[in-house]
Amino acid sequence: MSEEIKNKIEELSKKLEEHNYNYYVLANPTISDLEFDKLLEELIRYEKEYPQYLRSDSPSQRVGGTVTKEFKSLKHKYPMLSLSNTYNEEELRDFDDRIRKAGITDHEYVCELKYDGVSISLTYLKGELAQAVTRGDGEKGDDVTANVKTIKSIPIRLRGTGYPDEFEIRGEIFMPKKEFLRINAAIRKQMVEEGYTEEDIFERQLKNPRNATAGTLKQQDSKAVAERKLDCYLYNILGESLPKNSHFENLTEAKNWGFKVSADMEKVSSVEGVIKYLDKWDKKRNQLDVETDGVVIKVNSFEHQKFLGFTAKSPRWAIAYKFKAQQVSTILESISYQVGRTGAITPVANLKPVQLAGTTVKRASLHNADIIEKLDVRIGDTVFVEKGGEIIPKIIAVDLTKRDMFIEAGGPVKYITTCPECNAELVRNEGEANHYCPNESGCPPQVKGKMEHYVSRKAMNIDSMGSETIAQLFDSGLIRNIADLYVLKKEDLLKLERMAEKSANNLLAGIEESKKVPFERVLFAIGIRHIGETTAKKLAYSFKSIDALANANVEQLLEVGDIGERIANTIVEFFADETNKEIIQRLKMYGVQFELSEEQMVNASEKLKDKTFVVSGVFTQFSRDEIKKMIEQNGGKNVGSISGKTSYVLAGENMGPEKLKKAEKLGVPIISENEFINMIS
Ligand code: IVH
Repeated sequence: MSEEIKNKIEELSKKLEEHNYNYYVLANPTISDLEFDKLLEELIRYEKEYPQYLRSDSPSQRVGGTVTKEFKSLKHKYPMLSLSNTYNEEELRDFDDRIRKAGITDHEYVCELKYDGVSISLTYLKGELAQAVTRGDGEKGDDVTANVKTIKSIPIRLRGTGYPDEFEIRGEIFMPKKEFLRINAAIRKQMVEEGYTEEDIFERQLKNPRNATAGTLKQQDSKAVAERKLDCYLYNILGESLPKNSHFENLTEAKNWGFKVSADMEKVSSVEGVIKYLDKWDKKRNQLDVETDGVVIKVNSFEHQKFLGFTAKSPRWAIAYKFKAQQVSTILESISYQVGRTGAITPVANLKPVQLAGTTVKRASLHNADIIEKLDVRIGDTVFVEKGGEIIPKIIAVDLTKRDMFIEAGGPVKYITTCPECNAELVRNEGEANHYCPNESGCPPQVKGKMEHYVSRKAMNIDSMGSETIAQLFDSGLIRNIADLYVLKKEDLLKLERMAEKSANNLLAGIEESKKVPFERVLFAIGIRHIGETTAKKLAYSFKSIDALANANVEQLLEVGDIGERIANTIVEFFADETNKEIIQRLKMYGVQFELSEEQMVNASEKLKDKTFVVSGVFTQFSRDEIKKMIEQNGGKNVGSISGKTSYVLAGENMGPEKLKKAEKLGVPIISENEFINMIS
């Protein structure tokens, strides 16, 4: 029986790895996803029932589940060097000349694309992936083995024969462009549903595939890594007993062991061949599903490599050629000005549409008035547009040879002086780059922004009210400020486009429910500039009601921990404003919470003023959330990780040993639940 199970597990593992290889390395699947999932489920079932047969190279590890608290630092057996860069043909020919001068004239080059991701070093022992370590500082890197095992194109067990007992193989882990776009679209979809603003969405989205890869590899939960479909190209083998004496030929062998080696690697016999390769890929690289920023050129023969050796930082037998940032020229047709939800004005260039790096570019950021002045750009000018690693292209310079007398006559760009949305006179504070529209309570995007913030999850949490609904309500004149939400009627809502009975009911129920939201969150929701969640909590527990807060002067505000001059002044200004006073008066009348609840009042104190706590583990009398709340109610602050500044570590059962160690090392007192309760009672 047991032998049978063991064989079954082995057979399933083998099958699954075979299909993985077909799918992710050869891009040639032979079964459907559904069939694959069924096999995998079967394997996982067996492994759960018979854990004694769980193999260290089981394909079930690819779904993740291992949680790494802190990545172990491991020393590289061979340091991970970088490459020196060249930026043009001449520098590349210099590289070839240096090799010739060293006496090597019959060499071959291997050209590879330079993939823009995170480099990784994989160690295989007897055909099994033993270790995956990041580059780190080149000497030591982080052990990310569990996370790397979720990358389907990296073999956990090797195929075929002829691989050395022990070797390292290095390559680049990357996030395919398609996956990058998919994740960003998913983030957008969810955040739109939750009512976040465009600014928030932009903030939260992945910035570029390389950052996204690095961030993903550092996730503590390998499941999260498995969900983001990273990929990996291998480009360098190291070891004592490799089968061949040259780079290209070893990598070709490695393909047979199951590694994903790029099919775009080419062997050429001269620098002319290298240049041909560069020209070809300079254009073609946009078509690839992986970001590349250049080409790596390596001398093929190991004997030659050994002879050429290394400088302190990089091998003399290899060099990187960096592609120029892609640039095109096009015409600046006009400049429009966007008003953000904070009132900041951003000038945007409207360009004659042009193809750049595989996408059509119509707009480019101009940042602020200073940048426009510095570029001396005029409407009608031909401008150079460049796309770096980031998503939004920028204008680099003006092509003055194309400026004619008509453009010249148009004169420099006159920056707007009034808000394009509400006509208010713009202001620009000393030392700030941006112009602002000061009309906080009347300027449409600012008002809509304030409302989006008001209904958002961490504020009043009126789900079912997204930014689209807010725009509809505002544009149709139904709401002008946050107080108007509470007088909305069902018949008004039903007049809106795409608003059905059910959504209208949901909306109204959500608004009604928001009247129960506690004072500290209301204070955050009403959107006083610079008042985040934490400050709002502090203020709520210190002043206990909006009236007390509204009557406070700067000195009284400064007495609250962490409140500085700037915030104190903003608060005083906010409550001096007639419109704000009126809105708060109305909200109060409708039943929104503007003071601490009785329970909160009873518990509130300043006993923990200026104290910071790290709460960890499981407690017996209160839940962790309740304890955190008690800390805040008593004027203390919760922080996530222990530092020298932490006042106390509040330890429950099963607190992580790493945390304990750290607290002891830094001399932070560790207190129990009972000691804590004594502190505040
Ligand atoms: S070879 C000693 N090949 O570029 C040889 N590197 O500055 C070391 N990279 O850290 C690397 N694609 O992250 C090599 N085909 C390729 C590459 C490549 C990307 C990255 C790698 C390395 C950096 C070199």
